[in-house]
Amino acid sequence: MKGDKKGNVKLVLDKDYQLSKVDERIFGSFIEHLGRAVYDGIYQPGNPLSDEMGFRKDVIQLVKDLHVPIVRYPGGNFVSGFHWEDSVGPRNKRPERLELAWRSTESNQVGIGEFSKWAKKADSSVMMAVNLGTGTISDACNLLEYCNHPSGTKYSDMRIANGDKDPYNIKVWCLGNEMDGPWQIGHKTMDEYGRLAEETAKAMKLIDPSVQLVSCGSSNLQMPTFPQWEATTLEHTYDYVDFVSMHNYYGNRSGDSLDYLAQSNDMDQFIRTVIATCDFVKAKKRGKKDINLSFDEWNVWFHSNEADDDIMQNHPWQHHPSLLEDVYNFEDALVVGLLLITLLKHADRVKMACLAQLVNVIAPIMTDKDGGKAWRQTIYWPFMHASLYGRGTVLVPSIHGSCHETSEHSDVTDAETVSVYNEEKQELTIFAVNRTLDKNVELDADIRSFGESSLIEHIVLENDDLKAVNSSAAENVKPSTSNESTLEGGKLHTVLHPASWNVIRIHL
Ligand code: AHR
Repeated sequence: MKGDKKGNVKLVLDKDYQLSKVDERIFGSFIEHLGRAVYDGIYQPGNPLSDEMGFRKDVIQLVKDLHVPIVRYPGGNFVSGFHWEDSVGPRNKRPERLELAWRSTESNQVGIGEFSKWAKKADSSVMMAVNLGTGTISDACNLLEYCNHPSGTKYSDMRIANGDKDPYNIKVWCLGNEMDGPWQIGHKTMDEYGRLAEETAKAMKLIDPSVQLVSCGSSNLQMPTFPQWEATTLEHTYDYVDFVSMHNYYGNRSGDSLDYLAQSNDMDQFIRTVIATCDFVKAKKRGKKDINLSFDEWNVWFHSNEADDDIMQNHPWQHHPSLLEDVYNFEDALVVGLLLITLLKHADRVKMACLAQLVNVIAPIMTDKDGGKAWRQTIYWPFMHASLYGRGTVLVPSIHGSCHETSEHSDVTDAETVSVYNEEKQELTIFAVNRTLDKNVELDADIRSFGESSLIEHIVLENDDLKAVNSSAAENVKPSTSNESTLEGGKLHTVLHPASWNVIRIHL
């Protein structure tokens, strides 16, 4: 887009001013038994594009290219009514079930064992959620025993009898999903959930002390019980858990794009409040450990809302209906970029995060129906760039820059940036989004503390049409190389075009 106005941002980056190492699990994602995520998305036996287990090889390749280190599974709202034992053992004996969260029919043809194998094929690991909606402490313990205990007990031997001699060794476990939400099957008050999660966590750590546990936080920033929910539930679970979860989805509901691009400020505020609440509980408990944040559902989600309501209300109980199939446009990709920058800026406390979700359901990867092609949505690109080049140490910059106001947000920076130093590769990456619609933002970065440096590349995602979308037929939104950057004597100068996602890679 062309800018007739000017903005600026000035950075001084010093390799000794470090915020935190990035936990690679911040680039996690999520696959739920919902819509066409599992069936049609990752699993499609009979398709020539699928392997001997029925997994789509083209989809696996697109996931691998994203370098997703951990995938949350099997829900989401789905998990709160999930009977895990239905999903293991001989396929022809697995029951069809009414799936209440999404009013669909679940065939259980993909279950715990298959998904563990899929995750391996995709070079990833599993973040497992247990059912604390209709489920019990023993359901959760039995599942952990099935997955992680070597042998010689009822559930570990059941896994072996089902063909999997080696334990799956799943290291991260979510204690339920969005239990504060009235829509959740088995929704609980904060004390009811806190007590159940505490006792479940205690028992799970007895089975396998090496697992990390995630206590359910609020379903979004607008929940009436936020942040008391975090304070009360963590008072119950503090001793046994390592993380509290955060979920939030964003969207351009009002049609005001400038304001939409400021919504990452809401994520920032949400994270700050949850950190403060975790630290309050730690202080109250005279605790020694920090509770870290697992932002295990985040993305843009609003395009498909009406269509989803129609399917669930008027056409329920289908097998893998087309639910939550948001088709993302260019401005959504900018927002995803801004959300990634926000997560990285909190890398000292946000240690895990999951782009929700991964395939077909509010996803960067889509597959056409009836065995058609797999393709990349607009949001695929910023996620891939962040996952590839955002590993290392987040730097604390000295930063000054111009700002603007939007209808709902004040003091909105014209450009949002974060810089990651990868010592091993001797690379520095500056991620930047110009979130104005009419200003060319001049970015100057002083990186002299790093010694000699040279520009590797300046990748840019831009488009004259904020509403441009991709499809299997046309990749209208894809990155290109910018020649706006110069780097001399440790001084970088560049121009960030209005409404653009920029990745400036520097060799040190
Ligand atoms: O990701 C879609 C849904 O959003 C999940 O099932 C639920 O946890 C959240 O409300």
